[in-house]
Amino acid sequence: MAEAQDLLSKQLRERETIFRLLVSGVRDYAIFMLTPEGYVMSWNEGAERIKGYRADEIIGKHFSEFYTEADRKAKHPDRELEIARRDGRYEEEGVRVRKDGTTFWANVLITAIYDEDHTLIGFAKVTRDLTERRRMEQQREADAFLLSQTNEKLKQALEIKSRFLSTISHEVRTPMTGVIGLTELLSMKDLGSENNAAVKAIFESSKRLLNLLNNILETAKLESGKVVLEHRNFPVRSVIGDTRQLIARESAKKGLRTTGTCDDNIPEVVCGDELRVRQVLLNLAYNAVKFTNVGSIDLSAELKHENDREVVVRFSVIDTGIGIPKDLQEQIFQPFQQATPATARVQGGSGLGLSICRELVDLMKGDIGVISLPGQGSTFWFEVPFVRELCES
Ligand SMILES: Nc1ncnc2c1ncn2[C@@H]1O[C@H](COP(=O)(O)OP(=O)(O)O)[C@@H](O)[C@H]1O
Ligand SMILES: [Mg+2]
Repeated sequence: MAEAQDLLSKQLRERETIFRLLVSGVRDYAIFMLTPEGYVMSWNEGAERIKGYRADEIIGKHFSEFYTEADRKAKHPDRELEIARRDGRYEEEGVRVRKDGTTFWANVLITAIYDEDHTLIGFAKVTRDLTERRRMEQQREADAFLLSQTNEKLKQALEIKSRFLSTISHEVRTPMTGVIGLTELLSMKDLGSENNAAVKAIFESSKRLLNLLNNILETAKLESGKVVLEHRNFPVRSVIGDTRQLIARESAKKGLRTTGTCDDNIPEVVCGDELRVRQVLLNLAYNAVKFTNVGSIDLSAELKHENDREVVVRFSVIDTGIGIPKDLQEQIFQPFQQATPATARVQGGSGLGLSICRELVDLMKGDIGVISLPGQGSTFWFEVPFVRELCES
């Protein structure tokens, strides 16, 4: 009997030693016991590392030493024990003071410990130094704040630029329309061949300038997000024929054949932004004429996809022109980018057309692209989803 008891108490002692070693060896957490009144009873390595006291310096002292003057005055330490006594535990994150007076950000957990008779024998206190984590959090917050400020400034700068562009182009456009109107009148008069040629040149240049202004205005408007799409019913199939007619004169001048085909299964009427669709197709068609010297321009519309709600139409402009090298096929959709500036100089243009097309197609939740081989021609295409169900006009 006595032997068994000896064995049991030996085992208990061993277990206690292991447990004590375990706790005392933990370096990342301060783990220690407080008396029911809050006096330090035990101290581990983590506590020494985090708070700076050796065990012999702190055991027997009141745990309110770890708190700031203000917290002590506010009786914060006492309140923590009160809550732990009442609820069994108390947890918080807050500022604690080290032996040398410096402070750190701590996670604190206080657990009430009872014996078998449910008498409170003290509190287990586990403290973790979160200074580094908090510093990182604060750094992240500061970075995010800085970023949002920079973003805001950038947005404002962009807005000013867009506003500047649109005001200037608007202001210049008005007198430009006057210049165009008057030169057109002049060109109808017989001023002698030399003068007539000059007037014609003025007329052509002014038209280009007006076109450029319109493009800048449109770009500024798109950039500022002020373009609002229309949703109206419209006869989508007629877009092909009408566009073909609009380029007929220019292409005839260059001796280019034009065709226009439209899938029969495209609904007669769909709901969407007719003007924007026409604008994109016309832009692509004019480009095709501009960059093609022999052959043909084919405009087509196909039904790409349909369901109960939606009809996706794919428009294509196929030319037999100069084509575009693979590495430039993405760039040309950026503002002011031209594949062959030399050609562009002869042909005129600002490199804004395709970027406007892409912006508009994006706005319509569609897709735009090009398939091309230099010397063999290009196929510019765009797909736009339209609402099938006829909306109120
Ligand atoms: N059909 C085409 N064939 C060959 N190159 C084209 C064609 N369409 C566009 N490009 C190239 O893409 C560039 C950008 O076109 P765009 O944005 O319309 O500007 P712009 O017509 O004012 O030059 C053109 O300058 C040209 O280099
Ligand atoms: Mg163009």
